[in-house]
Amino acid sequence: MKRIISAAESDAVTKRELENREVAYRSALEGIVLLKNSGDALPLEVGKIALYGAGVPMTVKGGTGSGEVNERHAVTILEGMEKAGFEITTRKWISDFEADCNRAYEEWLGGGKSGFDIINHMANPFLAPVGRVISDEDIVSSGCDTAIYVVSRQAGEGADKKLSKGEFNLEKAEIESITKMAKSYKKSILVINSGSYMDIGELDDMVSAVIYYCQQGMEGGSAFADIISGKAYPSGRLSDTWARRYSDVPYGMEYSYLNGNTLQEFYREGIYVGYRYYDTFGITPRYHFGYGLSYTSFDMTTIGAEITGDELALEVQVKNTGEKRGREVVQVYVSPPDGELKKEYQRLVGFAKTGELAPCERQNVKINFSLGYMASYSEKDAAFILERGDYIVRVGASSVDTKASVVISLDENAVVSKLRNICPLRESMVMTAPAVRGNADDLSDAIRLVLRGADVATESVQYKTPEICGEEQVERIMATLSKRDMIELCVGSGLLGMISTKLNYAPGTVGRTTVKLHKKGLINVNLADGPAGLRLLKVSALTKKGRLRFKDGNYMIGAMAYLPPFIKKRVEAKKKDRLLYQFTTSFPVETALAQSWNTGLCEEVGRAISREMEEYSITYWLAPALNIHKNPLCGRNFEYLSEDPVLTGKIAAALTRGIQAVDGLYATVKHFACNNAEDNRNLSDSIVGERALREIYLRGFEICVRESNPKALMTSYNKLNGIYTPESHDLCTSVLRNEWGFDGVVMTDWFSTKANLADAGKAIHAGNDLLMPGTSSDRRSIKKALKNGTATYDELKRCAANIVRSIIFSEASKKNS
Ligand code: BGC
Repeated sequence: MKRIISAAESDAVTKRELENREVAYRSALEGIVLLKNSGDALPLEVGKIALYGAGVPMTVKGGTGSGEVNERHAVTILEGMEKAGFEITTRKWISDFEADCNRAYEEWLGGGKSGFDIINHMANPFLAPVGRVISDEDIVSSGCDTAIYVVSRQAGEGADKKLSKGEFNLEKAEIESITKMAKSYKKSILVINSGSYMDIGELDDMVSAVIYYCQQGMEGGSAFADIISGKAYPSGRLSDTWARRYSDVPYGMEYSYLNGNTLQEFYREGIYVGYRYYDTFGITPRYHFGYGLSYTSFDMTTIGAEITGDELALEVQVKNTGEKRGREVVQVYVSPPDGELKKEYQRLVGFAKTGELAPCERQNVKINFSLGYMASYSEKDAAFILERGDYIVRVGASSVDTKASVVISLDENAVVSKLRNICPLRESMVMTAPAVRGNADDLSDAIRLVLRGADVATESVQYKTPEICGEEQVERIMATLSKRDMIELCVGSGLLGMISTKLNYAPGTVGRTTVKLHKKGLINVNLADGPAGLRLLKVSALTKKGRLRFKDGNYMIGAMAYLPPFIKKRVEAKKKDRLLYQFTTSFPVETALAQSWNTGLCEEVGRAISREMEEYSITYWLAPALNIHKNPLCGRNFEYLSEDPVLTGKIAAALTRGIQAVDGLYATVKHFACNNAEDNRNLSDSIVGERALREIYLRGFEICVRESNPKALMTSYNKLNGIYTPESHDLCTSVLRNEWGFDGVVMTDWFSTKANLADAGKAIHAGNDLLMPGTSSDRRSIKKALKNGTATYDELKRCAANIVRSIIFSEASKKNS
């Protein structure tokens, strides 16, 4: 079989690139959140402006690691503001910062003296300095009355953020600069360019406006400038609660490295994650979940509510009562009654974003949500139950700004789904018990509805061994495969698969399925990372003999930049090599996408990424990532959506629908489950009670699987209650396939299986089909497991058949058969 290369041989800008760039711009616009705007400080007239802060020239577009995307060009805030016509009057501060930054980088590299230290550099990534304190001279020479200070932070997989200055907290120089800015300029704007929230002290009280920029991909700088100038307007809403101080974060000091134990992560806050904690325990955060300002104001009225089948259908009228254009997010929360189970004060059950509303314009939005979202999990009964009492439905513009609009009275307890207990706790854990509930509501205007327990249908689940895929084309191929072939399929293409240029080849993929079975009709398919776009090599080269070489510092991983020169010389492209180009789009990070609260837009983002997958022959997109923001220090929060499972599940479902709109392209939801800390992620044991597991950490995955049918899922590195997740039959089979009906491929996270980590044989037994990227030790483990009965031949066959089905129905196979 001939090599198939889809990368372009020209670096010309394509129509697809321009179109996707436009989607990236729109999603950045909708993901920026305006947190404060006193005296309508914003928008600004285009004119002179003082720009300070590391994030101005070095805007962080996304986090590091597998979540990075290699786009053609990313627009910084500096560039965006210049393009929008602003005259930047603080060039001196900016060039001093750049010089400072270059010096710090050289120092970090060891000034060329310390030699090759790739491991040290990977473990201690370069953290840019924050720049010098703004001087009186800067202020005088800026010659204007408006300033913006952009605080910037970077993080990535493999390490959590530190609870220290320069990371979660502000550096002294930042505090001094922002204070000085606030005192010296008539209008002062603080911007946070970080993938998850941080502690900004009480500085927000001092400045005129605060913007959470987050990390907005390659078009972030342009979107930012257009919001500042009023050409566009903000419509993002927070997808997390911002605690006033870290000590307010539940069990914050036990998180990750902070208690000196990264081997065990106790999920002691139970279901009280994010606003569920702050609202129930009466702790006022700095900014509430769902919060965000517009340049205009809105009014919201619930005009209809009825129970239809197992859903509540709501109709809400939104009116723009201000003087500027804008979009509002209608958010629906439910406060369930306490009963035998103690409940959180409220939980999000649905949301919808309006279209653009001109002043005085109205729009009616419809929101339906499943009554099952109001249920809580009883570990004793192994069931999701609705306890009798009044369910108060709150409708509003954020978790704190709602009106009790509907009361659903349930006459008797009802079982929504009868399940079985999973993932038993092996450690004893003292759980948080709620103390305070919110004040009594004024329900005088609320619409009253009655729900009879007898009318609630109970979903029951059959926990049985899933069938081996019996589709005719799959069976035909399976009949030709030996046991060895099946093992080949289940272990991917091995480490070399990442750099092998054989057969179906896309430079920069992080894995592929086996190349050894093409004679039996199975092409290899490619897997590439996300979630902020499609991570491929932008420029690469092929030697005459068909070997991969790297071009202009475009490496598989950033750390290759620190390779010693004699190795670099061997892997770098030569003049006669054939150059290949793949220009993919870097979209806002997932947290920013969630902040759009716009499922339609996120579906468009998925669709845009699918076009790049088609173009470059990628079958599996290793995203969206759905882990819950349990703690603001998690190094990967930027790659995840929210602290709330409903927002997480709905946005992830939208991205998945977008990707899978093309038949034969697959979204891979990850990391299943409870990978909520990064330090020591391969050995860490997440200790989680079943109720929190089901209501919080699995719920987002459940919504995504049920609503969008992703064709792949990735297990996580960590253990869950003592068992590595790829070995967990409860997760990979009982929950995923039996309860939720998942029918795709389950794969491991990269190199999850090896001595002292998860066992490949046990993974096959559990229903984890594919070991990625696969090693010979995985092959040996599977053979051993088949011999000693840890895994059966049928289990191997089931996993292999799932992979065969995904390959033969892939877009890449169809195109190349
Ligand atoms: C990450 C995954 C990623 C994989 C492949 C792992 O380190 O945890 O999210 O998809 O690498 O790059």
